[in-house]
Amino acid sequence: MQRRGLAVRMRFVADLSQCLFDFVIQLLPTAEEMAVKEDVRKLLERLIRTIEPDSRLLSFGSTANGFSLRNSDMDLCCLIDSKERLAATDLVTMLGDLLERETKFHVKPLPHARIPIVKLSLDPSPGLPLGIACDIGFENRLALENTRLLMCYAMIDPTRVRTMVLFLKVWSKRRKINSPYKGTLSSYGYVLLVIYFLVHVKNPPVLPNLQQMPPLRPITTEDTHLAGYNTWFFDDIELLRQRWHSDNTETVAELLIDFFRYYSRDFPYNTGVASIRTGLLKKELKGWQNDLSGGRYNDSRERNRLCIEDPFETDYNVARCVTKDGLYTIRGEFMRAARVLSTRPERAIIALAELCE
Ligand code: CTP
Ligand code: MG
Repeated sequence: MQRRGLAVRMRFVADLSQCLFDFVIQLLPTAEEMAVKEDVRKLLERLIRTIEPDSRLLSFGSTANGFSLRNSDMDLCCLIDSKERLAATDLVTMLGDLLERETKFHVKPLPHARIPIVKLSLDPSPGLPLGIACDIGFENRLALENTRLLMCYAMIDPTRVRTMVLFLKVWSKRRKINSPYKGTLSSYGYVLLVIYFLVHVKNPPVLPNLQQMPPLRPITTEDTHLAGYNTWFFDDIELLRQRWHSDNTETVAELLIDFFRYYSRDFPYNTGVASIRTGLLKKELKGWQNDLSGGRYNDSRERNRLCIEDPFETDYNVARCVTKDGLYTIRGEFMRAARVLSTRPERAIIALAELCE
């Protein structure tokens, strides 16, 4: 009887892996969508160059790191190579006016936001049935680097890493726990949770720690630092593939089930910081503790319920927007997912549908 139970469970896990692949494949952007987005980027770059001739417009976020789903928005970053350049606030205002005049985009310049950006959107059309949403920021070089880091992690083990990340992005959107504005976690935060789990929780690890691998040749601080932060990581993925391989043979389904189990039960939310650079850190050590002495409205307490250290900006908690209620909901969803996957031994496809309903 016990043997039969085990066989059923093994079949379920194998089926679940196949269902996960099939599920995410149909959600990938089409070649046409990617081409349209690249055309939009080029058009915007041409227009920006009429204001700042020495500028470049680069993609970051999911369009550039391999974790893009159909209709995900475009994150663009404008870099200006000359020393004499307009202040970001002025550039945002001027670019906003120009785009309003010259294009069909709906334009919303936010020159006074913490990071000044121009928000753009395009209505649906036959070639673009769901339109486009796009943010243009300025000089955000750290975001370009963290995008490259995530892309390298995806390239090491595309099947397992991309399937897990893409599934979690869809799942968190469908379960409505993917809005930093409403107190839950950004996609970027979920990706970091996955990488943390694959580098530091799984034993043997599924991924190496790219930020701690020895460099191939001597490097200086000048080579590695950007805005005062160490942004070095091992990025020769071809070479890495020849020299490193994971001893972890778990399937995507096994990893996903364990991911939900770990974040519903084992991650020390009250005291711990998930750092992909260093592993598990203490909130106390980073000055991110939930300080009870500060009274009811203590800001740091509200900001540090869930702590995920940015890979480069190590004084930045990527999950700072997650509120008490937000974390309660997120943990509830992790528990629900772990439960659905452990108590639905019938058909994997039904479990998956229930997970994302
Ligand atoms: N980013 C960041 N710090 C944050 C949030 C985001 O530096 N707190 C940067 C990262 O470079 C990230 C990019 O902004 O890759 C986009 O973030 P986000 O939209 O959350 O992730 P995507 O992968 O683009 O997800 P989606 O497809 O849902 O837009
Ligand atoms: Mg994005």
